[in-house]
Amino acid sequence: MNAPRIAVITGANRGLGLATAHALARRGFAVVLTYRGEADDAFRAVKEIRAAGGDAITARLDLADTASFADFTVSLRRDINERWGRSDIDVLVNNAGIGLFGRLEDATVDEFDALMGTNVRGTFFLIQALAPHIGDGGRIINVSTSLTRHVSLGTSLYTASKAAVEAITRTLAVELGPRGIRINSIAPGPTATDFNGGAMRDDPDLRSSLADQTALGRVGQADEIADAIAALASSELRWMTAERVEVSGGTLL
Ligand SMILES: NC(=O)c1ccc[n+]([C@@H]2O[C@H](COP(=O)([O-])OP(=O)(O)OC[C@H]3O[C@@H](n4cnc5c(N)ncnc54)[C@H](OP(=O)(O)O)[C@@H]3O)[C@@H](O)[C@H]2O)c1
Repeated sequence: MNAPRIAVITGANRGLGLATAHALARRGFAVVLTYRGEADDAFRAVKEIRAAGGDAITARLDLADTASFADFTVSLRRDINERWGRSDIDVLVNNAGIGLFGRLEDATVDEFDALMGTNVRGTFFLIQALAPHIGDGGRIINVSTSLTRHVSLGTSLYTASKAAVEAITRTLAVELGPRGIRINSIAPGPTATDFNGGAMRDDPDLRSSLADQTALGRVGQADEIADAIAALASSELRWMTAERVEVSGGTLL
């Protein structure tokens, strides 16, 4: 049996990351789901993926703990070698991230450090740690936000962190291009997950006001973002790198 293509997805225990794990598994990728806290959700997802005929394993990763990335890389390579006979990966989806929102006068240095530490520092140094182990011709997909294009009150720090992710995406495309590695960012609009306390899923007033701002008339669902990430991971988009792809149902056009 041929060794499978391998995709690593950060923050895959829930939300967009979990949906992406399923979307990539359905397309034949062997999937590594990283989780930070309790493993139960990630283990359940592995069972579901295997029951559906795919394959997956889990790996623990705290994106805020850059000091752990060297050990994470070693154990990731050991685990994929044990299960799939490979020590390199094909796709890295940098999905894990946090959102902290508030107006200028309420922002704190701790919030700034948490946002930048997870969304920017964690993403950048995870790419640094794993890039040598992404096979030539691989892909990296970084999750940004539609907020880097339009403005919404109280989102300055969060948006700054994702604008940095987009800048990292564009600039690293030049460094990784000689190895045929494509790197793109995907910018979801409001999507019904636990994000922001689950507001986009659970708050009917917010949902309805966001729907009014959207050409397609509703907030997005996790699988709609996941399918777009899977498209970026596919060879159909093999000539695309350094791009920002927005998947927002036409938010605030
Ligand atoms: N939902 C939206 O409307 C929306 C829109 C635009 C962009 N995004 C972006 O999409 C990505 C996924 O969001 P989501 O909607 O799926 O949110 P979510 O349901 O809140 O999930 C966030 C995921 O990130 C993980 N995570 C957070 N901090 C981490 C850390 N330090 N180390 C490792 N994992 C960490 C979480 O793990 P735990 O379970 O351990 O907390 C969880 O798996 C984020 O980057 C977010 O900024 C979301």
